[in-house]
Amino acid sequence: LGLSILDPGYLATAVCRSSISYIDGDKGILRYRGYNIEDLAEHSTFLEVAYLLIFGDLPTREQLQTWNTRIMRHTFIHENLVDYLRSFRYDAHPMGMVTSALSAMSTFHPEASTALHGEAIYEDETMVNKQIFRCLGKVPTLAACAYRHRIGRPYNSPSNELGYTENFLYMLDRLSESNYLPNAKLARALDVIFILHADHELNCSTAAMRQMTSTGVDPFICLSGAAAALYGPSHGGANEAALKMLEEIGTVDNIAAFIEDVKNKKRKLMGFGHRVYKSYDPRAKILKKISEEVFAIMGRNHLIDVAVELERIALSDEYFIKRNLYPNVDFYSGIIYKAMGFPTDFFPVLFGIARTSGWLAHWHEQLQEPIPIFRPKQAYDGAAARKYVNIDDRV
Ligand code: CMC
Repeated sequence: LGLSILDPGYLATAVCRSSISYIDGDKGILRYRGYNIEDLAEHSTFLEVAYLLIFGDLPTREQLQTWNTRIMRHTFIHENLVDYLRSFRYDAHPMGMVTSALSAMSTFHPEASTALHGEAIYEDETMVNKQIFRCLGKVPTLAACAYRHRIGRPYNSPSNELGYTENFLYMLDRLSESNYLPNAKLARALDVIFILHADHELNCSTAAMRQMTSTGVDPFICLSGAAAALYGPSHGGANEAALKMLEEIGTVDNIAAFIEDVKNKKRKLMGFGHRVYKSYDPRAKILKKISEEVFAIMGRNHLIDVAVELERIALSDEYFIKRNLYPNVDFYSGIIYKAMGFPTDFFPVLFGIARTSGWLAHWHEQLQEPIPIFRPKQAYDGAAARKYVNIDDRV
């Protein structure tokens, strides 16, 4: 077949070099550009981390201020894009809305189209940066519109004097022209959650981003493809699936029976297991702590007791020990989102807002270090050449 290796799912194949994030799956280490995720979660902000991921170093005070201003000046979306979002069914899944709106953005910013202007446009740094500001600025606005659509309320305009995550919460909840401000502690908790979800080397959606980037298509279409990949329940949709699972289990008394179903392969324990981590996901540890901070403000959600007990039972069970299955980032994030009042189907959207920074970092890196168009080989095992059969002769 002329194949050197058959590697379904790229389990063993490195398709690019990258210096953005580093994972040691056995030791449970995650670093962005060399900085431990624990340090970034404690000391940094999401926008500062986005800068770090994209440009490689932490910004100076002045760089950070310019960066924040530029992004916050790109938060408004075109009125026709608002109309497009309004045209969705009243109960449209917000991830479908955001994914579609991202690809629609391509038509609103044609100067970023290589089809129209040639690939040389991306040699211009100002041009590249402008798309980055746009994407980071507008994604929370698209997400907020999808949220408001779902609850049947008018869309809110961004408030650019607020911080990135604060503005996002503001767009979700502002009910009138009064001076509504989101709870500062909840905004910080969500900002840290965004930091934890910002990048994770060549996960499925980032691989999709790179694959589409290799075709030379504009970043909005690439982001739409990445968001579409994130939507799946084995990837960014796992937080939604994990929460639904915890709700279905309901009480600690039902855990044992559920675990039996998992061990008998009738069910999967959502929010558990990871392609790379074969020990505790460091992001899950931080999230467990954040959950307590959120509960202190919003009240305790009983599902946290189910989750903690489920984790305890699973981690002492031979099935999970033998397979190195530990909680991943999605196990606790859903409970926190729920406690903060987000609808379950909005969870992957929250993941997508954060991951946009990582997707853009990979887009930026690939523009600087282009790789050939992705064209994996396949191993054909279908029919040999055969003669066409007329419809009347088919059996
Ligand atoms: N529940 C029960 N069994 C599992 C689970 C699980 N969540 N995950 C893996 N296993 C079993 C699997 O059945 C297999 O058993 P066996 O050896 O008997 O066939 C063994 O563990 C190895 O599994 P695998 O499918 O080879 O592992 P993978 O690395 O291909 O899959 C995964 C990784 C994340 C797709 C998988 O663990 C999974 O589906 N987890 C649940 C969904 C989830 O939480 N996804 C979020 C991942 S983290 C966020 C992100 O990066 O998107």
